[in-house]
Amino acid sequence: MGGAAPADPGDESNADEPPLPTFSEEEIHVGEKYSYHDTLSSLIGLGSYGVVFKGNDHGNNMPVAVKRLAKMNIKDQELSVIKSLKSKYLVGVLDICDIDPVTSCVIMELLDTDLDNHLRKRAPNGRLTPKNLKLIIDNLARGYKALNELRIVHRDIKPQNILVSYQIKGSREFSGAKITDFGIARTLGEASLCNVAGTFYYMAPEVGANLLKICEYNSKVDIWSIGCLIYQCLTGDIPFDECSLCRLFLYMAGGNYEAYDYPELPEGTSPLSSISFIAFSTSIQRNEPLHKNSTRSPPLSRN
Ligand SMILES: Nc1ncnc2c1ncn2[C@@H]1O[C@H](COP(=O)(O)OP(=O)(O)O)[C@@H](O)[C@H]1O
Ligand SMILES: [Mg+2]
Repeated sequence: MGGAAPADPGDESNADEPPLPTFSEEEIHVGEKYSYHDTLSSLIGLGSYGVVFKGNDHGNNMPVAVKRLAKMNIKDQELSVIKSLKSKYLVGVLDICDIDPVTSCVIMELLDTDLDNHLRKRAPNGRLTPKNLKLIIDNLARGYKALNELRIVHRDIKPQNILVSYQIKGSREFSGAKITDFGIARTLGEASLCNVAGTFYYMAPEVGANLLKICEYNSKVDIWSIGCLIYQCLTGDIPFDECSLCRLFLYMAGGNYEAYDYPELPEGTSPLSSISFIAFSTSIQRNEPLHKNSTRSPPLSRN
């Protein structure tokens, strides 16, 4: 499922997916004008924190998405981030209501699916068509610009957190894409980079893991994620496997940003797509000198 697809027939389950919740099979009223059916057929997505159902806004007679999550998982930080968002390239939050003392629901505009689901089920070889790719790059850049103007670092940009709508139901052509899930977003304060030096050959893994935890970072982390995401949309594959990621983390912990093996675009990648990808990465960097001491760049855009 990963994203919003349990209702799709022929869905294959995925080992990485969170387990299905138990369903009460009842209609749940949320606030004064929203409701959803707590059933498998109304489930549209499972994330790390939330269970998302297709619901109804009875005031406007419109379908909505209802993300149910433990109240303790909605941090004040997330609330202030959500309330400050106003862009058609960021998923709109209509309301936040408590349904019992420990459970809240975030009511959102409903989109058709997420990008992960699209890539896995509706994109030949897991690659976007040039038209869809162009739209994703455009809408992502606009959404991220809106976040950036609010000095918000998303920190979890990935295909599951990009929602898309189709031009017509059942088609494969996007009409729009929006960034969602501000669960671990942070407003940028003074950022500093970690500055760890030394050799890692003899280091215990938990020490290495801890080095990564204490790193502080800024919006460049999102640009990196966007780079990885576009690379995947373009090639059908993620840019770094576990092995190269591990090496990358070690270089990172050592402040050695230039030593990684950056991914090449596979032969046969459309030149137009490659150009738009590189233009995207570099234009974001030009607009936003994110950290004057940082030399780190998104994949494929090392200068
Ligand atoms: N507004 C929405 N419209 C359609 N599907 C949604 C919507 N919001 C979330 N989803 C689906 O639910 C999944 C989990 O939602 P998300 O907000 O990312 O929760 P989590 O914080 O638990 O990751 C998404 O990956 C997507 O598939
Ligand atoms: Mg998510």
